[in-house]
Amino acid sequence: MDDLKGKYLGQIADAADEASLEAIRLAAVGKKGEVALKMRELGKMTPEERQVAGPQLNALKDEINSALAARKASLADAALEERLRTEWLDVTLPSRPARQGTLHPISQVTEEVTAIFAEMGFAVAEGPRIDTDWYNFDALNIPSHHPARAEMDTFYMHRKDGDNRPPHVLRTHTSPVQIRTMEEMGAPLRIICPGGVYRADYDQTHTPMFHQVEGLALDRDISMANLKWVLEEFFSAYFEIDGIKTRFRASHFPFTEPSAEVDIQCSWVDGQLRIGEGDGWMEVLGSGMVHPKVIAAGGIDPEVYQGFAFGMGIDRIAMLKYGIPDLRAFFDSDLRWLRHYGFSALDTPTLHGGLSR
Ligand code: DAH
Repeated sequence: MDDLKGKYLGQIADAADEASLEAIRLAAVGKKGEVALKMRELGKMTPEERQVAGPQLNALKDEINSALAARKASLADAALEERLRTEWLDVTLPSRPARQGTLHPISQVTEEVTAIFAEMGFAVAEGPRIDTDWYNFDALNIPSHHPARAEMDTFYMHRKDGDNRPPHVLRTHTSPVQIRTMEEMGAPLRIICPGGVYRADYDQTHTPMFHQVEGLALDRDISMANLKWVLEEFFSAYFEIDGIKTRFRASHFPFTEPSAEVDIQCSWVDGQLRIGEGDGWMEVLGSGMVHPKVIAAGGIDPEVYQGFAFGMGIDRIAMLKYGIPDLRAFFDSDLRWLRHYGFSALDTPTLHGGLSR
């Protein structure tokens, strides 16, 4: 019995894991284990012998069982220790800021422009980027022979062979949205139409896709004076400089009469552009009183309603305000550029909260 005890207690102490402990348990105190076999031999003993051997066997069994339980507990402790050692995490480390996306300057400036005009009662209207030549040209008093069509470097959509209808175009300006909105809403009307436009042109200040914002105000008594006030309010708010002066130069657009190109006051100091000061001028948009034919094309009576319109490059005023030198970089999707010129997505531009920060 002492041999049995020595053998099993030694094995239990050496057991490396629960599986080998279980094997030892079966061999020692399982139903067919060595202790059970010895128990069976009790029957062949004399009563005197049995009285000695019985309790000794039971004591042996108890001792092996408690050694098994103790070893099992210490193996479990060791396993836990090992897990705690390897699955370690320093919860006191400072958090790493996640890479954040930014708002593209075009989106930012569109929001800024929208916030300013909204304050003056202008709603936002939208139209399709693929449009008919009627909306893009004819309705805006640009008939097919008109030189302005050639000047616009228009992208024409392909039609199937044998289909002789005039092709659709990628809109060359946001002016067609004037017509669509007049048709839809009638007059009086006060809208801006921001969005992408397309022309076949590519250099430092031209890309085949760029952005404009159109403005249109129609009522019974709207004049050029209203146009000038609205634009001066806009530029002062947009550039965040009080009292920016504008200069109206006589010009020509088929869809306005009279027409004017508008410059804002600026100066160049050491090659640096400063808006709103000095005696230089920078052209920023085209405008005028909406041509009666255009008002009629929009389904509104030009004998009753009149108004002003303007069209301005969003990318261009973004470059001016944020000092971005090359238009092409806007559309290169270069992450370094986007992080440098991008805006926090959470700072929505408002006139009361601040346009840009
Ligand atoms: N559509 C013109 C362009 O793309 C810009 C423009 C000029 C729009 C005068 C107007 C306007 O509404 O009155 O060059």
